[in-house]
Amino acid sequence: MNNEVIDSLRMLHDLSKAINSTLDLEEVVALVMRKASEIMGSEKVLLLLYDKSEATLTVRSKYGFDEGELRNVSLRNVKSFDHCIVHKGKVITFGELLPHADYRKLITLVPSLENMVLAPLEARGEACGLIGVSGREEGFTLLELELFCALGSQSAMAMENAGLFKRVKDTFLHTSEALAEAVNSRDPYTGGHIRRVSGYAMLIAEECGLSNEDKEVLRLSAILHDIGKIGIEDSILGKGGVLTEDEALKMRTHPDIGARILGFVEEMSDVIPGVLYHHECFDGSGYPEGLTGEEIPLHARIIAIADAYDALTTDRPYRKAMKGEDAVKELAGEARTHFDPYLLEIFLRIYKEAEAAAI
Ligand SMILES: [Fe+2]
Ligand SMILES: [Fe+2]
Repeated sequence: MNNEVIDSLRMLHDLSKAINSTLDLEEVVALVMRKASEIMGSEKVLLLLYDKSEATLTVRSKYGFDEGELRNVSLRNVKSFDHCIVHKGKVITFGELLPHADYRKLITLVPSLENMVLAPLEARGEACGLIGVSGREEGFTLLELELFCALGSQSAMAMENAGLFKRVKDTFLHTSEALAEAVNSRDPYTGGHIRRVSGYAMLIAEECGLSNEDKEVLRLSAILHDIGKIGIEDSILGKGGVLTEDEALKMRTHPDIGARILGFVEEMSDVIPGVLYHHECFDGSGYPEGLTGEEIPLHARIIAIADAYDALTTDRPYRKAMKGEDAVKELAGEARTHFDPYLLEIFLRIYKEAEAAAI
């Protein structure tokens, strides 16, 4: 076997190993772009996805393009996709697409695409898009073009797997959310509480720079933070006035009940801290354990802020909903006593930025 073939096989093996090492769709896409540039020795890489039902071809990712070049390009009414990519498994050039009016707009927008070669993203016999690399002065060998085609189908399969995995995860999250909202709906005043609290928590997480994995755990913790209310009597949850001391004590058991429920699911062990400690206070005056400062797990400190903001800005049995600006003032008054001052500052900044953007 000559060296070029051995090198190609090695590259293909490395590519497959790299893109199948993760099920995170964004990571897969980033790897595909980088590997395509490396393997083909091309400066620019373009990933286009085709939506058959909408007949649109959209730029999903780009690599090596100048800032602002090719921003959010989406071609509509691309009816000729199947027809043009009819030689599935074969590389084509943008030049070959040019006779088709559907693609002309793309070339007009970015003339540098004209010298690109494209391979179909083909998974299970269906082309779902194209990957393009900029041409080289010396051109490509036949073997390189074959390798590029293999890269297209490997990439498509890895993206499909990651997409399926994401769908399974999303279904799980939505089911958890529906369950948690159902538990919360027994309290007539808190419709939509779960979705809002997890939304605010994710905004804080984003600003804190949490990893994707950490954000997923936080999202699930926020969704399930009040799941323990399933064990609280209706007469307490739905009470239209201030709770008696005995009722308040019972209500305070919901983080423990939630943690106990989740304890039955081994895979949920990392969700428990956020649920169990979301009513702890920074100064140690919270419950169930009276933890202080950073003894309180980070996820619980984030959920506490999101939870309190939502409680203040929605109608409660004992008072009307506050306006957002009054609620953040109230929260700011409790920095260091109730909330982590650093996280609260982040939340207040998010609030101010959102307010400024809405004006
Ligand atoms: Fe709670
Ligand atoms: Fe809550």
